[in-house]
Amino acid sequence: MKYTVITGASSGIGYETALAFAARGKNLIIVARRLDKLEELKSKIQDSHSDVDVIIRTSDLSDTANSYKHYENLKEYQVETWINNAGLGESSSVSDQSLEKVESMLRLNIESLTILSTLFVRDYSHVEGTQLINVSSALGYATYIGGITYSASKYFVSAFTEGLAKELELKSAKMKAKVLAPAVTETEFEKTAQDVEEFDYKNFMPMYHTAKQMAGFMMELYDNDKVVGIVDESYNFNLRDQIYPILGV
Ligand SMILES: NC(=O)c1ccc[n+]([C@@H]2O[C@H](COP(=O)([O-])OP(=O)(O)OC[C@H]3O[C@@H](n4cnc5c(N)ncnc54)[C@H](OP(=O)(O)O)[C@@H]3O)[C@@H](O)[C@H]2O)c1
Repeated sequence: MKYTVITGASSGIGYETALAFAARGKNLIIVARRLDKLEELKSKIQDSHSDVDVIIRTSDLSDTANSYKHYENLKEYQVETWINNAGLGESSSVSDQSLEKVESMLRLNIESLTILSTLFVRDYSHVEGTQLINVSSALGYATYIGGITYSASKYFVSAFTEGLAKELELKSAKMKAKVLAPAVTETEFEKTAQDVEEFDYKNFMPMYHTAKQMAGFMMELYDNDKVVGIVDESYNFNLRDQIYPILGV
């Protein structure tokens, strides 16, 4: 049995992506901190796709020791696709940002993603059909004033994953590495980034995608050989080759 691992599956893009992979009959390992949300997702999947195996794993991936443990605890499963989607935003100027939140964000968005990507590549890059998809952001390609540190964390995700895709290609590895770069998407993201109880996308955002639309774009990227799937300023989804210049080839 092969599995698709999705971090941050308890809400938003990860939740809808889990439903989209389940609809294709893919067995899932769903990861986040909130057990109740993961259980709700599992029962929703099993109502419509009883043949799909769903494994729940709770982990706080902003603690890097947990990232190693989480990977180690999955060794008994054969992983086909690994999606590092869990991420956190911080909407403040640099002078106002909470360093406690920023530390947690950098550990989750950068360190945990790098650890999990590295371990997966080490074990599976020779396996045909494997994919690593890291979720960056349109703000991983253009700096957003009002969330510079978050933007910079996503620059890391984009540069790391685009570079890895080239490295795998040069080594004739079987694994593909890809970057999904959403723009504004209606999820719990803004609530967490702005530390508010609710966020009304309809009133405050001129344009956005739903999490279900974004999961559809994730599947387009999954089905395609391009390295980057990015939402542009007009909110069109584009599949592209590496965007950052690559040296050392
Ligand atoms: N929504 C947007 O506008 C937007 C735009 C561009 C990029 N993105 C990126 O898309 C990805 C998914 O975000 P989303 O929009 O779907 O937001 P979301 O609804 O807030 O989902 C975030 C997911 O990450 C999980 N998570 C957060 N902190 C975690 C931790 N410490 N350990 C483990 N899991 C954790 C959350 O689960 P628990 O709370 O249960 O742990 C949740 O499942 C993120 O990487 C985000 O940066 C979002």
